[in-house]
Amino acid sequence: MNNLIKAIITDRRMLSSDVVSLTLAHPDGAPLPAFSAGAHISVHVNDDTIRQYSLCSAPTETAFYRLGILKDPKSRGGSIAIHEQLNVGDTVTISAPNNLFPLDMTAEHSVLAGGGIGITPMIAMAYALKAAGKSFTLHYCVRTHKEVAFLDELQRDFGDALRLHCDDLGDDQRLRPDIDFGAPSAGTHIYTCGPTGFMDWVMSSAKAMGFAERNIHFEYFNVDVDSSGEAFTVVAEQSGKTISVSGTQTIVQALSEAGIKVQVSCEQGICGTCIVDVLEGEPDHRDQFLTDEEKADNDQIAVCCSRAKSSVLVLDI
Ligand code: FES
Repeated sequence: MNNLIKAIITDRRMLSSDVVSLTLAHPDGAPLPAFSAGAHISVHVNDDTIRQYSLCSAPTETAFYRLGILKDPKSRGGSIAIHEQLNVGDTVTISAPNNLFPLDMTAEHSVLAGGGIGITPMIAMAYALKAAGKSFTLHYCVRTHKEVAFLDELQRDFGDALRLHCDDLGDDQRLRPDIDFGAPSAGTHIYTCGPTGFMDWVMSSAKAMGFAERNIHFEYFNVDVDSSGEAFTVVAEQSGKTISVSGTQTIVQALSEAGIKVQVSCEQGICGTCIVDVLEGEPDHRDQFLTDEEKADNDQIAVCCSRAKSSVLVLDI
């Protein structure tokens, strides 16, 4: 993988019982690559585990990157390893920033709605909007007030633009899209990140209010992807191998058993690391990475989770 950077952990602090913040800097103090709000980096947690985390520092700051990482009990090894194994002074390999969740800086007003750890890209967005003198509100939704992280900083830096919503503190302070998002208009854009159910609720509420789909922006970081289905055959053109993919296997797993390694990262159809060109056949797209137009072209597939509608899929691998 290109654009890898060795970074040193210069600060580590617990922001709540299960959120740790890590500050990463270049070992010799050089600036890190610039990024735009909404960007993430891949962290090589160990030889087998690469995970994506949103940058939650101000995009104007290139002396360091900051991450906020939830210790997820359903973790497949990434967040728990980070919480338990990474400390100040450790060196980690990271990717250059990549942004799949960019801000529209032409908006008249931006509504940022972060659920739980989904607040992290929203923090970078709030810094970018504030620096540009743009109007925004930052809604931070959590189940209990004990889960709130970054609070002192958010109150200090964003003042009245910050709206905190804790499910355990009563109905009158919960997020009310019909009130908090304002009247739908072409100049208002909605951004959301967080647990899937929360995001689906934010997006469906905004649509029901009349916000246009192009004004609703989202980034999934943890999705339940169903990658099972009918068995089919993959022809790996470059390798000259024909491989059966069972109903419960992913293409990546079947390729791996046949000795063909594909670089994967999120394994949930989010990051795009595993995208492979399709030479023949019709994919059954299950990922969140490709756009609807790209999916309709049927010439690429996320092999970590997507399957085939045709009985045979010929891949350029
Ligand atoms: S590994 Fe991330 S989309 Fe497949």
